[in-house]
Amino acid sequence: MLENFKNQESKLSHEIISEINEIKLIYEKEDHISYEDDLKLKAFFGIDGEREDIKDSQKIEENNLQETLYANIPYSMFCLDFEHTREIGKKLNLSKDDTFYDLGSGYGQVPMFLSINSEAKFKGVELMRDRLAQAKTTTKKLGLENVSFIEGNVVDVDFSDGNIFYMFNPFSQETLQIVADKLKEIARTKKIKVVSTGASTGFWLDKCKDWLEPINDIGRMGLIFESK
Ligand SMILES: C[S@@+](CC[C@H](N)C(=O)[O-])C[C@H]1O[C@@H](n2cnc3c(N)ncnc32)[C@H](O)[C@@H]1O
Repeated sequence: MLENFKNQESKLSHEIISEINEIKLIYEKEDHISYEDDLKLKAFFGIDGEREDIKDSQKIEENNLQETLYANIPYSMFCLDFEHTREIGKKLNLSKDDTFYDLGSGYGQVPMFLSINSEAKFKGVELMRDRLAQAKTTTKKLGLENVSFIEGNVVDVDFSDGNIFYMFNPFSQETLQIVADKLKEIARTKKIKVVSTGASTGFWLDKCKDWLEPINDIGRMGLIFESK
């Protein structure tokens, strides 16, 4: 990743380069990520904590998304905080051979934050167009060449090139089951990891125990699982 930044240095403004350096410093700090640093990261990654982000409500209703439950609640309540994101990055020990998917990536701050500190490839899948547009704009602004976003419903998107799949409580039970079936199929061909945070972690523990086992606790009701 550092190499990518170096190659791009001429294209990126000094302001962006210093933002990226600041993000790296926050990631590398030994202490917990402070409230002030958390706010800075939100600003870097284009997350407005007060955003009432149910703009695409028709699409949500049509797709029977769990997100209908979140109506009028700021996005910051339903995105993973940077402390836990960093914890996931450290526990996964990502390498350039890894392809990390955020299934239901929202504004994309999880793949973006991790990508600055890793050479892995990062992909986000998101249904809501305005979130995706924001994620793409920020990725471009920061010159993150190892991050990309796909617009679509996870039910339809092919993510079989991945080996690590992260989800923060994003789907209805029905969608969760379809995603689990797709991941189980992928796990027949290679070892995969599933990272779950939030209330749906229980689903992976209970319903997928025949093919997934928990290997790390990451807090915030989160577990990293590996395929058997
Ligand atoms: C709780 S947010 C999590 C955002 C981000 N992954 C994080 O950890 O901060 C869940 C996201 O999943 C998206 N989502 C829900 N159902 C989806 C589906 N079937 N396909 C793609 N995205 C979906 C929602 O629009 C929302 O942005």
